[in-house]
Amino acid sequence: MSKRLFISTYGCQMNVYDSSRMAELLAPCGYRRTESAEDADLVILNTCHIREKAAEKVYSELGRLRALQQRKARRGGRMLIAVAGCVAQAEGAEIRWRAPFVDLVVGPQAYQNLPAMIEQALAAGTAVVDTGFPQVPKFDRLPRARPGQGVSAFVTVQEGCDKFCTFCVVPYTRGAEYSRPAAAIIAEARQLSDQGTCEITLLGQNVNAYHGAGPDGREWGLARLIVELAELPGISRLRYTTSHPRDVDDALIAAHRDVPQLMPFLHLPVQSGSDRVLAAMNRRHTTDDYRRVVERLRAARPDLALSTDLIVGFPGESEADFRATLDFVAEIGFAQAFSFKYSPRPGTPAAAAADQVPEATKVERLAELQTLLGAQQRRFNRDCVGKTLPVLFEKPGRHPGQIVGRSPYLQSVHVSADSSLIGRTAPVRILNAGPNSLGGALAQ
Ligand code: SAH
Ligand code: SF4
Ligand code: F3S
Repeated sequence: MSKRLFISTYGCQMNVYDSSRMAELLAPCGYRRTESAEDADLVILNTCHIREKAAEKVYSELGRLRALQQRKARRGGRMLIAVAGCVAQAEGAEIRWRAPFVDLVVGPQAYQNLPAMIEQALAAGTAVVDTGFPQVPKFDRLPRARPGQGVSAFVTVQEGCDKFCTFCVVPYTRGAEYSRPAAAIIAEARQLSDQGTCEITLLGQNVNAYHGAGPDGREWGLARLIVELAELPGISRLRYTTSHPRDVDDALIAAHRDVPQLMPFLHLPVQSGSDRVLAAMNRRHTTDDYRRVVERLRAARPDLALSTDLIVGFPGESEADFRATLDFVAEIGFAQAFSFKYSPRPGTPAAAAADQVPEATKVERLAELQTLLGAQQRRFNRDCVGKTLPVLFEKPGRHPGQIVGRSPYLQSVHVSADSSLIGRTAPVRILNAGPNSLGGALAQ
């Protein structure tokens, strides 16, 4: 009998990937993914712990689900509620205490155990918790066969982080760095490409720290993996995210020069433009290291565009430090960026620092930074007008007769064209630019 599974995904792309894998894992148990939590047999919240707001959202969502769960119970049914992802890992006990109606708590490295956990929860009627870091990597226990994932798909190649930036929970929630063997990644990519995927984004919390076992018995870096994946005939585009400036090596820079499938767009978080703050963050790179990496990447691939992550109001950040961030952003020039107010996270060293920045200062600094970043993004988009860019079409647009795809720089591009182009790349002359998307016409 078919059971209804609803998964709500928060946080980073790795959670998006994990949500797909959970659905695939549960399909043989009869679970079919649905679009709403209403009347679901199993609801999974795949959560994010990166900032306080993200984590708190989980509890309000759980409150809403509680009502649905009770309604289903009144009708004689049962709705299992599972909390997965990074909040589950970090706050397993707190979830049980604040939301005792949660049936399952499962960490990011334990979800391969979900089928057994569900059986246990259904039989026992008490909460089942697994937030362990297993000896056998979860990837080895997930189904090998993956269903089609559409035109553009994610493949996790690396997980966890050993960097321990002083603001960040990821090393605690995802665990130590782990790289999947290259052969498993290539097999997964080949399968996806056989089912129509043209673009693969390689994922890792620290994706360019990838150092997996190669089929030749040697250790492969990310560049080697990219070169090999580019050989797959159906794969026309490759991307990777998120990288750390410190792990950009010569081979990766050469890949940007030599592999045409590798898109000229790179997300490279810098976090701050002040060396003093970068040191306090334990980022292990200076502004000058970042500047040099960018220079070398741009020399290898002159049309490369960058995006980044920035944090304002890190403990001890002075007005001068913040000005240095604004200057650095102005100097590098980003096509896109994510910027955040520093959020103290339990258990991380920076949360215990005495010199926390007042909320009002964070708000002001974030607004000023976002004004600058917004202007850079608009300028980058405007500069695309008049150019012809290859667009990989992904789906129908909102208006009839329109389809939407992505430029090499990940901008959404809207075009009036036949839907038979979906899944194909075609040159588009860019005619107009909004803050977040472009419009154009097929170039003849
Ligand atoms: N692995 C990536 C990013 C991981 S988290 C890297 O090394 O950069 C994504 C982004 O969230 C980070 O780049 C950072 O800008 C932001 N972030 C992480 N912890 C944060 C915190 N405590 N407060 C505010 N922003 C944070
Ligand atoms: Fe977090 Fe730093 Fe690791 Fe990125 S490199 S995941 S910011 S600890
Ligand atoms: Fe969030 Fe965990 Fe990703 S904390 S950003 S879901 S690794």
